[in-house]
This record gives sequence, C-alpha cells and structure tokens, in this order.
Amino acid sequence: MEIPVRFQTYVTSRFGMFIHWGTYAAAARHEWVQHREEITATDYRKYMEWFRADRFKPEEWAHQAAAAGMKYVVITCKHHEGFCLWDTNYTEYKATNSPAARDLLRELVDAFRAEGLRIGFYYSLIDWSHPDFPIDSIHPDRNRPDVEVLNSTRDVRKYQQYMKDQVTELLTQYGEVDVLWCDFSYPNAEHNGLKGKGKEDWDSEGLHKLIRALQPDIILNNRLDLPPEYADFHTPEQVMPMEPVRVNGKPVPWEACHTLSGSWGYHRDESTWKSPEQLLHLLIETVALGGNLLMNVGPTARGTMDARARAALKVYADWMAEHADSIYGCGPADIPAPSGCAFTCKGDRLFLHIFSWPFLHLHLPGLAKHIRYAQFLHDASEVELHRGPFKDPLEVTDPMGDEDLLTLILPVAKPAPLVPVVELAYST
Ligand code: GLC
Repeated sequence: MEIPVRFQTYVTSRFGMFIHWGTYAAAARHEWVQHREEITATDYRKYMEWFRADRFKPEEWAHQAAAAGMKYVVITCKHHEGFCLWDTNYTEYKATNSPAARDLLRELVDAFRAEGLRIGFYYSLIDWSHPDFPIDSIHPDRNRPDVEVLNSTRDVRKYQQYMKDQVTELLTQYGEVDVLWCDFSYPNAEHNGLKGKGKEDWDSEGLHKLIRALQPDIILNNRLDLPPEYADFHTPEQVMPMEPVRVNGKPVPWEACHTLSGSWGYHRDESTWKSPEQLLHLLIETVALGGNLLMNVGPTARGTMDARARAALKVYADWMAEHADSIYGCGPADIPAPSGCAFTCKGDRLFLHIFSWPFLHLHLPGLAKHIRYAQFLHDASEVELHRGPFKDPLEVTDPMGDEDLLTLILPVAKPAPLVPVVELAYST
C-alpha cells in the first residue's frame, strides 16, 4: 500500500510541539482544575475574564518551536473545560469574548505555518461547560446530590451535533489541517454509579465519517473508542515504551506525548520539571523505538512561555542544531545498543547516542566488517576505530571479543553536547 505523502512527512518529522492553552492557564493549577476542585461551569467561567493573552505573540512561539527542531504543532482548540480558542458560531464561551477579543487560533495557525510547521488540532470530546453534556464519572459535578435531576434535561444527541458543527468549522475554516487529535474516551470508567463515555456517547462513527469527508487524508489519532484501524496513529501518554508500540499484536505508527513538567496546562507551582538530560532522552529513545515525540508546553494566561518552558525548549534547540540528522527520518536499528546508549538508523547510517560517557572505549560486537567510517555528528570529527579482538596495552590479560568486534576510540573527556552522537557509515 502506498503511504500518503502527508503521513510520511508526519512520521519522518518525528518531533512536534503540543500546546495546552485555555482559561485553566489563569487558575494556573492544572488543566483539570475544574474537575479536581469540583467547580461548577458557572463559577469556572470567571477564568475567561482573566485570560488576558495580552502578551501573546504566536510568531515567537512558532519561532521557538522551529528552533527546537519541532516540525508540527498540535494546539488545544478546545480542552475539557469547553473554552474555544477560535471564533466558533456555536458557543459564547470563546476567545473573542475574553479580554483577548480575537480568534487566537487563527493567529497561531498563521504564525506556525509561516515558520514552516504543520498544523494539528486537538479537540476535546469532553466538555464540562456544555449544558447538554451529561454529567459522568469524571465531570466536575459528579458528586452533586442532584446529578440525576441535572442530567434529566441533558441531551447527548444535541452535544454530538455541537461537536460535529465545531469540527466542521475547524476543518473548513483553517485550510489543510494535518492532524486531528481527539481526546479522549473512557467507556469503562465508573464513579458513584455514573458511567464514563465512549463511542456511543460521542457518535464516534458519525464523527469519524464527517472528519474523513471534510479532510480525507487528515491524520487522525486513536482516542475515539473505535477499532484501531480507524486511527492513523496511536498515542501512548507519558510513558516510555520498552519496544516499538503494537496494537493487537501489530506494530502501529505511534506518537508519545509528554509534558515538560507534571501538568499539560500552565501550572505555576508544579515543580517536577524534566532535566535537560531527560528531555533529550525522551526524544532520542522515542525515535529509537520508531515513534514520534509530541512535547507539550503550557503557556501562561498572558500568552507567554514562562522561563522554565523557554529553558527546556532551548535544550532542544541547542542539541537539535547539531543533531537533527539523527532524528528526522530516523527509526529503530536492528542492532542492540551498548549499555547507556541508543541507536537510531536512517538508510546506511547508524547514529549512536551516548547518554552515559564511557572511558575511552565503546565496544560494538559484530560490527567490525560493517562500519566504514565513524565521526561525531556535532563537529564531523573522526572517531578512530579498532577492529578485531581487544587487548589491554600490556597484553597481561586475555584478548576480548573476536574478529567481528569493533571498538570506538573515544576522547577521555566527554565532548560538549549533552548527548554526543557518533555517526557510523554502515555497509552490509
Ligand atoms: C489526557 C488529559 C489531558 C491532556 C491529554 C494529552 O487525556 O485529559 O489533560 O490533554 O491527556 O494527551
């Protein structure tokens, strides 16, 4: 089967920016604050008034994403709170009625396109503001004594139509959208006798049909609670897989999503920010297992990336400036990596990422006859090779390995990049 160009571009780009931006940024204590603190939709609305977005410069975000080496963006057009970043016709709960008073989505799309990034839309199936969204096991009102009464007037079919109307706006008013990221289904959830939601609640079949009709080759994720073949890619969240991801035993295209800290939305007081090493590790290991990484930032309610987020993006920018070749278009190598290292592979190139810097020698069994040349990626300086059994200089111990052993002779001091990469030219 021929792989559509759009999908191929998405897979080879390997690295995207997730943006969670909504009025929860004003509360600044997790995008699930409404659920966690059980805030009614009426009370929660105050955050729209404080969602200032007065320093929002989408060109700067786009520039930071591009500098970090990210090739696409997925933006939360609407998250579970229900607030819409675009000028939708179907609710008043939208950016144009906030102090920002404009279609923030359009500005963002224009700016990211101008930087050459592809556009993905995240659309929350869940909606805690919509009057026809039945209160379920995770709804902010789930513990109210009058849930049954409240639910008696809620008509999920009207909510389904609302979603279809909004998805139609998103897929007809912003040109070609590369990715649609619907979030999420929880058919097996249960709380106080309240159920979760899945394909019947969303009318996932109908929604899916509509999406494919509006943009036939849009790249769609897997969170509609439909059989896996409906999805173009799968979305393990905040996990590091141990092998290429499979669904029902079959390898599938996948994209891991991760946060810079322990929250998707801006969280002022959350302190589990990932270290520079962890940030690079996530990207490299994901590509080494054949996945994409969608790394999230949660901008503030003023529309800025805070200093911690900027610093994290800079880690990627500095490393990717020298090492993008070992990421774009790369996938797994079928050679096991030595301890503390990861391989990625593209054509006849093997890229050895060295997380834990060894002393002088790195042994690669089985490769002596297959590697023509080796160099560091960051400065194209040669890495000398020793082929065959490895002896200690005084030969006071037995030689190790066989004729097929390849040993890289590395500098004792680790070179400057946080994760140095040796590029190996392979021939069979
Ligand atoms: C979860 C959360 C959410 C976040 C998403 C990203 O499903 O509900 O807050 O947007 O993951 O994958």
